[in-house]
Amino acid sequence: MALVSTKQILEEARKIGYGVGAYNVNNMEQIQAIMAAAKETQSPVIIQASRGALKYSNFTYLGYLMKAAVIENPDIPVAMHLDHGNSLESVVKAINLGFSSVMIDGSLLEDGKTVSTYDYNVKVTRSVVEYAHARGVSVEAEIGTLGGIEDGVGSEKMHLTDPKEAKRFVFETGIDSLAIAIGTSHGAYKFKGSVNLAFNILKEIRLLIDIPIVLHGASSVPKELSDEVNKYGGKISGATGVPISNLQEAIKLGVSKINVDTDGRLAITAAIRKVFMESPEKFDPRDYLGPARTALTSLIVAKMKDFGTSGHAKDYSPISLEDMKKQYVSR
Ligand code: G3H
Ligand code: 13P
Ligand code: ZN
Repeated sequence: MALVSTKQILEEARKIGYGVGAYNVNNMEQIQAIMAAAKETQSPVIIQASRGALKYSNFTYLGYLMKAAVIENPDIPVAMHLDHGNSLESVVKAINLGFSSVMIDGSLLEDGKTVSTYDYNVKVTRSVVEYAHARGVSVEAEIGTLGGIEDGVGSEKMHLTDPKEAKRFVFETGIDSLAIAIGTSHGAYKFKGSVNLAFNILKEIRLLIDIPIVLHGASSVPKELSDEVNKYGGKISGATGVPISNLQEAIKLGVSKINVDTDGRLAITAAIRKVFMESPEKFDPRDYLGPARTALTSLIVAKMKDFGTSGHAKDYSPISLEDMKKQYVSR
């Protein structure tokens, strides 16, 4: 079994300078598509589930489907990651399900919307670090907030990360990776005008902290995909994302984990809409979920190549969570 922590995946990526996509999952087809892409490109991979995804699937179903991804792909390093945990309680639930990595998003209060204080963030993050590290599980936390609200995740206003505060936060919490806000936001409508990312802040953060950096809201929202959705009866207008060239620049400047959900949603929707429009007589779910799965695999294969993840699955031996636990204890 190659269930690993994101700490190992991201530290290995940092040694060479490539990025690793963290892809959101809600169901079997998404998990299978991402794993097929990882297998095809020989990439380490992070599959992540949000609180919403876990609730939608009644926790146990999604947990076991994610475990199946690990069992079916023994040669691929896979991390099972909780995306946007909002409390110690949500983290405990994920770890009990077998997750190897968790995010605690203390930049927002438990409601996932209201911006919190620095002290609140440190307090909740430290409690998660203590619980998770004792079990060999790695921890991502966030300082600064993204814009945009997507199903209850994210504040309406954006607060870019203050590099000095980030340095203090990493020191005071003992986290393994840090999510920063440099102008991205969740969802399909990221920029009102042209793409505007604060690479100067990223450069400053990189100089001050020495743990892997995470970029949320990193979907590219390619025009071809929204056009495809619209071609088959969808209604998406003015959608924009982070171009691949900007993500590649961010990787060069020190971003190791790149969070992608929206692009996968678009690819799936376009494929399903196409079947519905072109073959209205079909009603077997496999006739539209199958093509959706294939479309998602192609999307992720391209991302694994673009982020430089491909070809790195066998670079290192997986460290078990039991051994990670020993590493944390001896620090
Ligand atoms: O960061 C948010 C992810 O896109 C998950 O979204 O909460 O709708 O599952 P969700
Ligand atoms: P996107 O909405 O850009 O795909 O971001 C997803 C994300 O950050 C999940 O945590
Ligand atoms: Zn996010």
